[in-house]
Amino acid sequence: MKTIIAANWKMNKTRAQAEDMTREVVASLKEQPVTDRTVLIFPPATALDCVSKDAGNVLETGIQNIYPAENGAFTGEIAPCMVHDAGGSWVLVGHSERRHIFNEPDDLITQKVNFTLAHDLKMMLCVGETLEERDAGQLRQVLSRQITSGLSGQGNAAVPSIAVAYEPVWAIGTGRTAGPAEIVEAHGIIRDVLRILFNKDADEVPILYGGSVKPGNAHEILSLDNVNGLLIGGASLEAQSFLAIVRA
Ligand code: 13P
Repeated sequence: MKTIIAANWKMNKTRAQAEDMTREVVASLKEQPVTDRTVLIFPPATALDCVSKDAGNVLETGIQNIYPAENGAFTGEIAPCMVHDAGGSWVLVGHSERRHIFNEPDDLITQKVNFTLAHDLKMMLCVGETLEERDAGQLRQVLSRQITSGLSGQGNAAVPSIAVAYEPVWAIGTGRTAGPAEIVEAHGIIRDVLRILFNKDADEVPILYGGSVKPGNAHEILSLDNVNGLLIGGASLEAQSFLAIVRA
C-alpha cells in the first residue's frame, strides 16, 4: 500500500493563503515527484474548492468533517454532494477535536462513516485515547470501541476506501509525540481490531499516526511496524515543513 502523508489544516488559512501554499507544494511535487506516497490535504471547507483546483494530479484533497444527510435544515453543516462539488475525495471523521471540543458521540461518528462511504468518498477515521484513559490502562478498550463502533457497519468491499488515523489526544498540538513503543503498541492493537472486522483484508487498511509530527521525527515514525502514513496538524501549515515530511 502507498504511504499516506496527510495535512490537516484545521481552522487555518484564508483561500489566498491556501492557494499560495498549494501552488508551492504542487510545484515541488511536479519538479521532484514522490511516486510511492499519497499526499493529501484537508483544508478548511471554504478553501477546499481552490486547493482541489490547484492539486494538479499530485495531491488528493478532502474535508475535515461531514454531516450524514443529503441536504436540508442543518445550519452550518456540509453534505457529501458538496464535497464532490468542491473537488474533494476524502472525509476526515471523528477527529479528536470533533469528539472532545464538539462532543461528537460514537453513534454520530458511525453515521458519518456510513454516510461518507455510501457516497463514494474515501474515509479516514480518527481514533485515540485521552491521557486519563491511557493512565487507567484503557488503551485497548478505547481503541477497540472507537474502531468497532465506527467500522462495524462496513463489509470488506469498503476496505479500499478506509484509512484509520491513530492520534493520541495527549500528543495533539502539545509538542509531546508518542514514543516508538507507544506507537507500535497502539497501531498493533488497531491492526488486531481491523482483523476481527475484515480478516485478511485488514492488512490493506492504512493506519496513520498523528500527534506532533515534525520534519525531525517523521522518518523514524514512518519506519515503525504498522505505520502506513502520517496525519499532520501544525507542521503541515507551512510548505517547506510539510514537504520535508512528505519526503522524509
Ligand atoms: P499536530 O500535528 O498539530 O499535533 O496535530 C495533529 C492532528 O490533530 C492532525 O489531525
